[in-house]
Amino acid sequence: MPTPTDPTVPAPREAAPSSSAETPVIEFTDVEKRFGDNVVLKDLNFTVSRGERVTLIGPSGSGKTTILRLVMTLEELTGGYIFIDGEPLTHEERNGKRVPVSKKRQKALRTRIGMVFQQFNLFPNMTVLENIIEAPIHVLGRPKKDAIEHAHSLLEQVGLPDKADAHPTSLSGGQQQRVAIARALAMDPEILLLDEVTSALDPEVVGDVLNILREVADTTNVTMLIVTHEMGFARDVSHKVMMFDGGRVVEEGHPDKIFTNPEHERTQKFLGAVLGHN
Ligand SMILES: Nc1ncnc2c1ncn2[C@@H]1O[C@H](COP(=O)(O)OP(=O)(O)OP(=O)(O)O)[C@@H](O)[C@H]1O
Ligand SMILES: [Mg+2]
Repeated sequence: MPTPTDPTVPAPREAAPSSSAETPVIEFTDVEKRFGDNVVLKDLNFTVSRGERVTLIGPSGSGKTTILRLVMTLEELTGGYIFIDGEPLTHEERNGKRVPVSKKRQKALRTRIGMVFQQFNLFPNMTVLENIIEAPIHVLGRPKKDAIEHAHSLLEQVGLPDKADAHPTSLSGGQQQRVAIARALAMDPEILLLDEVTSALDPEVVGDVLNILREVADTTNVTMLIVTHEMGFARDVSHKVMMFDGGRVVEEGHPDKIFTNPEHERTQKFLGAVLGHN
């Protein structure tokens, strides 16, 4: 493992969390996802350790968004198991049978997971502040006063201290995305899922949003599953990159290795196209 003084390691990134005997934060076991006859993910197995930041790369349609949506329980799992902190998220095996977990258990697990989407998905009929305090109050049962206080500090953190009373429609895309990040962080998630969060933004604000996420990566122990085309960002913040094709992991490894010296031809070709040299 590289030491902190290794010049190939960008300064802000600490060493990868140990993947020792500790229970993984996310575990996919023989995951299958079908949409009708279309098998999108097949026999997918991987684990993510606590505090680990993993970037998923791969061509369009390879199943990256589907993986995040499965973790967020926005899609129904059609086969296999997903565990969060060792607890089954959607199904478990009981007496040799695959049975759904209770809604109550699933809801409790889901509160540990936050997601930021490409299209922001803010509630348009609520102010910025209301967007941020909604779930902490109604899902976690936090006192309103505490939720408001936390929301203001998060708005400060994402550089929007004056926008608490604004409506999302009056904000730019970059501002809306910063609110969406604040909204996800308001739940103090253990796991943060980021699906192409800068793809819908004007190029000049992409850097601001990525810097906010870099800071979250540097200052918290939140486990991140990231889908992005921003390869510089992926390289800086990730401990591991997983290359997908056809719903399977083609290759995985340290970002320095995957981005500079990928072994698999499919990865070489994909990165050649994405990074604009081939
Ligand atoms: N709701 C849905 N109904 C039917 N098919 C779907 C649905 N969502 C995704 N798919 C299919 O699942 C496959 C994987 O889609 P997914 O969105 O996960 O890919 P992706 O890797 O995120 O692609 P992109 O890079 O374009 O975002 C695609 O073939 C897609 O058509
Ligand atoms: Mg996608």
